[in-house]
Amino acid sequence: MTAVASRVRHFVSVADLEENELATLLELSARLKADRAARSDLRGRTVALVFEKPSLRTRLSFDVGTAQLGGHCVYLSPAEVGLGRRESVSDVARVVSRMADAVVLRVNAHETIEEFARYSDVPVINGLSDLSHPCQGLADIFTIRERAGPDLHGVAIAYVGDGNNVAHSLMLAVAKTGATLRIATPAGYEPLPRYRDLAEAAAKRTGARITIGNAPAAAVADADVVYTDVWTSMGQEQEYERRRRAFQGFQLNAALLARAKRDAIVLHDLPAHRGEEITDEVIDGPQSAVFDQAENRMHTEKALLCWLLEGRR
Ligand code: CP
Ligand code: NVA
Repeated sequence: MTAVASRVRHFVSVADLEENELATLLELSARLKADRAARSDLRGRTVALVFEKPSLRTRLSFDVGTAQLGGHCVYLSPAEVGLGRRESVSDVARVVSRMADAVVLRVNAHETIEEFARYSDVPVINGLSDLSHPCQGLADIFTIRERAGPDLHGVAIAYVGDGNNVAHSLMLAVAKTGATLRIATPAGYEPLPRYRDLAEAAAKRTGARITIGNAPAAAVADADVVYTDVWTSMGQEQEYERRRRAFQGFQLNAALLARAKRDAIVLHDLPAHRGEEITDEVIDGPQSAVFDQAENRMHTEKALLCWLLEGRR
């Protein structure tokens, strides 16, 4: 048997969504947040969580969200499946497809999700790879929309830190909503060109403005939203000391935040390395929307599951 060439929709990247589909998902997320028991689309359905890395939010939000929709999750930990080691990725994908209705993958290498999706005939959701974190991107843009309203044109978002998986997905989500994103990273830590190109293509359609530079103060000036993420992501632990040095001057602290609008909100996808990329004062301060953002993972993922599984019973 060769790869399954089915018409099943996957969510491997924010780039998989048309702009109008993203808008639909965000509206559904808002309805689901307002009424947690509004839909039971997952009654009798099973979502498999196959994770190669640790997680709090991604695992919990899918598990609780699926239960609220009437379904249930099966969690397979890093030690259990051995994607590509104990068993080929394609064989795991075929077996999971026979039993589960959708699968959330958290992987070391992005290619693993792409390969899995080629062989899966149930929806594959990217629960984080080294290159992208699209479920986070959904929750991020939803959180910004909650504060700024549904039209994000003219809303200025500053992202200060590593041009990593979280930055890639944020770029794509912003590009599809027409907002403005100013990214500041240390030289050599900018987002990858392929994500810049995808974001630029979407920005041309929506009027979004995306700039990438190396000056945190300029990026944060008069911003409505200030976002940061860890300097050392999962899997990069051996680079910790080098990164700590490279990211000096990129900490989100009170002095940097003071350059943003007075009512700017602070975002961080968590887990935070307090005292490194963000101070306690900022993450625990009155401008922090970080825990709303964490909660919103669940509402946006519920919407995603309803949308991906619609009509697949
Ligand atoms: N933000 C996020 O994805 O958190 P976890 O790594 O805990 O899932
Ligand atoms: N950039 C971080 C995000 C964690 C949710 C990491 O990949 O470890």
